[in-house]
Amino acid sequence: MTPGGSPFTLRKTVVPPLAVVADRLLAPSAARRRAHDRDLADIAAPWRTKRQLARLDAVKRYPHETFKFAVLGDAEPGRFWVWRRLFNRPGVFETQVRRAQAEACDFTMQLGDMVSRGTPHNYLAFFEHLKAWEVTTPYLTVIGNHDRRFPHGVTDCETYRSCFGPVNYAFDRGGWRFVSLDSSAHRVTARQLRWLDRVVEDGKRTVVFTHIPPVVLREWTDYGGAKGLGGFEEGAKEFTELLSRKKVARVYMGHIHGFGVQDYKGVRYVLSGGGGSPLFPSGVRDRFHHYLVVEAGPEGLSETVRGIDGRDVPIPQGRVVLARA
Ligand SMILES: [Fe+2]
Repeated sequence: MTPGGSPFTLRKTVVPPLAVVADRLLAPSAARRRAHDRDLADIAAPWRTKRQLARLDAVKRYPHETFKFAVLGDAEPGRFWVWRRLFNRPGVFETQVRRAQAEACDFTMQLGDMVSRGTPHNYLAFFEHLKAWEVTTPYLTVIGNHDRRFPHGVTDCETYRSCFGPVNYAFDRGGWRFVSLDSSAHRVTARQLRWLDRVVEDGKRTVVFTHIPPVVLREWTDYGGAKGLGGFEEGAKEFTELLSRKKVARVYMGHIHGFGVQDYKGVRYVLSGGGGSPLFPSGVRDRFHHYLVVEAGPEGLSETVRGIDGRDVPIPQGRVVLARA
């Protein structure tokens, strides 16, 4: 009781949001967290990007060669029970990972949202799955918004980084340069754009992988009246202008759980967000589970969409014109 005050006076308190309270209540003890971290460090070690790239590099490809790689989209099962119950289809991710393994691909690139939230517990489960499914083809990743500590807003990505390494990286294979760019915080910063400007060389055949589409691709990023909800806004214009100026061959993206192709200012953007995540209603008309098999060679790129129902659809080379129904 404060001098002169009523014993029943309530102090002003700041009430944390329900989600924060739940996270605090469910947070593991410090000892359990340390044990988790140790287990995660052990199981993640072989899957670090650097290790996977070293494995890929062990079998060389030359510029005159044609080779294949697989592109697999979002796989997180939905953060909330209701979403999982309504939209999730268990087993799709496993089926697609196994099928992609059976292809003669040099590597698989997963376009982010591997886990529903970037906690050690979720990453442990992710790596245990890859191990159980006997994934042997080099497996590379792009960071998605769900792979950060919280999927919305700007939160840290320390657990992703501790497992995989840098969130922006590039590598060369068979005359091609591949770039994995972090757009998981719904932005591409000026610093990233300067890095991108350096790694995307004029005249070099280049493919860019990133999780969230730039907001300018309105056919995918508008959700009815919610304009641009599905895309990143900060840096979007500069990002697309840079890729057009450098004549990038292809950009592969996820985040929106569907499929689509857009030719925008001379660059082809392919949306492939059907790795196994729930097919929520969105601005995209073609929502189905699939992965891509991409053939890369001196003549360019060609893609086949492998649907979960077993149907294969080649992506036409001609210019794609989209119009809303
Ligand atoms: Fe996402």
